[in-house]
Amino acid sequence: TAAGTAEEKSKKRYPGEGKGFVEEMRFVAMKLHTKDQAKEGEKEAQEKPLPKWEPTIDGYLKFLVDNAEFRNTGLERAESLAKDLAWFKEEGYSIPEPSSPGLNYSAYVEELSKKDPQAFICHFYNTYFAHTAGGRMIGKKVAEKILNGKELEFYKWDGDLSQLLQNVRDKLNLVAEKWTREEKNHCLEETEKSFKYSGEILRLILS
Ligand code: HEM
Repeated sequence: TAAGTAEEKSKKRYPGEGKGFVEEMRFVAMKLHTKDQAKEGEKEAQEKPLPKWEPTIDGYLKFLVDNAEFRNTGLERAESLAKDLAWFKEEGYSIPEPSSPGLNYSAYVEELSKKDPQAFICHFYNTYFAHTAGGRMIGKKVAEKILNGKELEFYKWDGDLSQLLQNVRDKLNLVAEKWTREEKNHCLEETEKSFKYSGEILRLILS
């Protein structure tokens, strides 16, 4: 079949294997970008055009709050998000309650954290690394368009970001060394869900 049998699937190998597991995760993630988003992207842009890139402050606040739902990881964003939300409040905006995209995603990831470490690691990797890549580009674009270029704390990391990322890559690679090929593939196959859930949160910016 097109999807391949369970056995074929469990033995499937991905490029980057020799360079460590993070390279395999990155390969799968980059393919799920559109060409528009990243040079290495291969995904077809959606048939129905995305809504025009017109961020709103209320939508951006919903996006920031839903990201704050995501706790207990290494490259923590919660503290800087709290500062950003305090800043918006001072500016007179009311902070929305978390909405379903963030609540759904955090419930899903929390569930995985208890029962499916491989799938959980996939979300951990994609979320934190996405914030440092496309996330920063988005932050800049939104800031230019609706925040007079104000740089949010969300996009600032303590210390040298590339070093922080490399430390996390090393740790992820070490953890994955103990996994079987099947467990690695299970992790890689979760990437699509990571894009789906994050995409819903991302769209809040335009809501
Ligand atoms: C990397 C853009 C959404 C996960 C990248 C890179 C770009 C990019 C340009 C390449 C960075 C490099 O040169 O190494 C975007 C844009 C997005 C988007 C514009 C949406 C508008 C997402 C989503 C996810 C994601 C939804 C997953 C939840 C990743 C990961 C990397 C990456 C894991 C690799 C980072 C690394 O190697 O350090 N993205 N991206 N991206 N993106 Fe995205």
